[in-house]
Amino acid sequence: MARTNPKKPFLATLGGERRDWPPFWLMRQAGRYLPEYRQVRAQGGSFLDLCYNPELAAEVTLQPIRRYAPDAAIIFSDILVVPHALGQLVDFEEGRGPVLEPVRPATLASLSAAGLRDHLAPVYEAIARVAQALPAEIALIGFAGGPWTVASYMVEGGTSRDFAALKGWAYTDPDGFAALIDLLVEATVEHLCAQIEAGAEAVQIFESWAGILPAPGFARWCVEPVAAIVKRVKAAHPDIPVIAFPRGAGVLYQGYAEATGVDAVGLDTTVPTRWAAEVLQPDTVVQGNLDPQLLVTGGAAMAEAARAIIAELNHAPFVFNLGHGVVPETPPEHVAELAAIIRGG
Ligand code: CP3
Repeated sequence: MARTNPKKPFLATLGGERRDWPPFWLMRQAGRYLPEYRQVRAQGGSFLDLCYNPELAAEVTLQPIRRYAPDAAIIFSDILVVPHALGQLVDFEEGRGPVLEPVRPATLASLSAAGLRDHLAPVYEAIARVAQALPAEIALIGFAGGPWTVASYMVEGGTSRDFAALKGWAYTDPDGFAALIDLLVEATVEHLCAQIEAGAEAVQIFESWAGILPAPGFARWCVEPVAAIVKRVKAAHPDIPVIAFPRGAGVLYQGYAEATGVDAVGLDTTVPTRWAAEVLQPDTVVQGNLDPQLLVTGGAAMAEAARAIIAELNHAPFVFNLGHGVVPETPPEHVAELAAIIRGG
């Protein structure tokens, strides 16, 4: 049951409407920089326990909404709940990030999307709770990782420096690797559709590792799978806007929205706003791209950079965001200052 309300500023902008002051939300707007998040997190259990606790996941989703009233909430979860639902061992170790039992060609057959909706039912319940609790003008975003990015964690077993195992598989056994990507396309369509059916009004695909491939690999492993996902999600839910964030794509941002069929693209910190205004905005809605470190710094440097982004990009439909996620060192009061600036202060 999608509850699309065209009057919500964030959804209107994704639909192609320009506003005097852009709507905003921040990637990783819930999380460790907020003392109230750290308090919930300390109530025991692991990070994944928190992701699968509908009451607490809804609570931490709403924490930044209460403080800053951004134009959208993003459900508190993680891109790695999908490999977990497929049957892979996934763990988050304090100070080390995610740790997974690496997938190899010989172990791929042990993974299956058959039980995905049951496994991820707590995420959908959290979405339904947040949808109930949100103020009328604030939209709710569901999300998933792009198949290439999720595959990177599945094959490397965590974060990587050179992605040697991932690229080695893709380069030497493209058909075998395609089976992993196809499984992730299937799982991602299911997961996004279930989030929409629970109450998500827009979805974002996080392709955090789009920037590590040569152009032909980008076309095959980043563009094609996302295009397949968008086509299938839109067939089931034509009115739900899809945003993709192909971090680090560089000049390959050009043509990405058209080739994938997404409604909006998230710009990473390095994308020049003037270039985005000239090359991307005629064809697509853009979202971005303040450097998260400027939110740590705050003050005049943050204010100047935020105003410059708005001056450059708000001639056309534009959603203000960061160029990557809020970092744990961010003083919460800087986010309040940024919100005031975006709203015309
Ligand atoms: O507020 C929101 O944006 C929603 C929640 C959200 C989280 N992760 C919570 C989280 C979202 C949208 C994500 C996406 C995600 N997860 C991405 C794509 C965006 C990006 O950052 O590039 C990726 C690559 C992941 C995988 C992941 N999850 C890593 C690499 C890590 C460890 C690094 C880190 O920042 O801690 C996580 C853990 C994670 N996901 C935390 C949070 C709040 C911190 C864990 C904790 O609280 O103990």
